[in-house]
Amino acid sequence: MMRLDRYLCETGFGTRSQVKALVKKGLVTVNGARAGKPEQKVDETKDQVVCGGKEAVYAPYAYLMLYKPAGVVSARWDSRERTVLDLIPAEDRRNLSPVGRLDKDTEGLLLLTDDGDLAHRLLSPGKHVDKTYYARVAGKVTEHHAEAFRKGLNIGEKAPTLPARLEIRKSGETSEVLVTIREGKFHQVKRMFEAVGCRVLYLKRLSMGTLVLDENLEKGGFRPLTGEEIRSLKELD
Ligand code: URA
Repeated sequence: MMRLDRYLCETGFGTRSQVKALVKKGLVTVNGARAGKPEQKVDETKDQVVCGGKEAVYAPYAYLMLYKPAGVVSARWDSRERTVLDLIPAEDRRNLSPVGRLDKDTEGLLLLTDDGDLAHRLLSPGKHVDKTYYARVAGKVTEHHAEAFRKGLNIGEKAPTLPARLEIRKSGETSEVLVTIREGKFHQVKRMFEAVGCRVLYLKRLSMGTLVLDENLEKGGFRPLTGEEIRSLKELD
């Protein structure tokens, strides 16, 4: 059960104050009866809520694509730092959690969801979901490094890293690359470059599995996933 005003916010009918006004104007019905108060309780699993003639359908889970900026941590809550959830207005926050972590200084694609089952499947070490990053690196990255990434590197873990793909976009004193890894070890990309004597200066995640960062999002911006994006993430094997 939840309050009617929250239900309307979460189904996209506006902010808390906007939906309260809609209820007060008599534009909302619950199971055919006009709703009198925004604080009235509704059962999101079975009540039929209609607002201004349009049914407010409650989706069991929310899926948001966030363009994480640098300077926020990938956690639900932190006692000192700003988190990725602080970028989401309260009415859209539900019970969202970030799926995996990006370092505080890493930017790019971060999926937020309250679908614990999907999150678990995407993060499960046995799944090997591809994650592609753009990296700017201090040092001359060459095909020799690409070969080392392909073979797997010792980054101080029990086993070497799984084969990773390195596509060199610019090779020089500072290099630019696309790197695709299939694991998600702590600071993995930075540690892989350290293992070959280079240093990551800038890191941005571009994709995770089938999900690609939307170029229309601004840093710090977010949008719900489309039905197709949700379906193809669920179909990853
Ligand atoms: N690898 C890193 O080193 N940092 C990230 O944030 C993600 C992958």
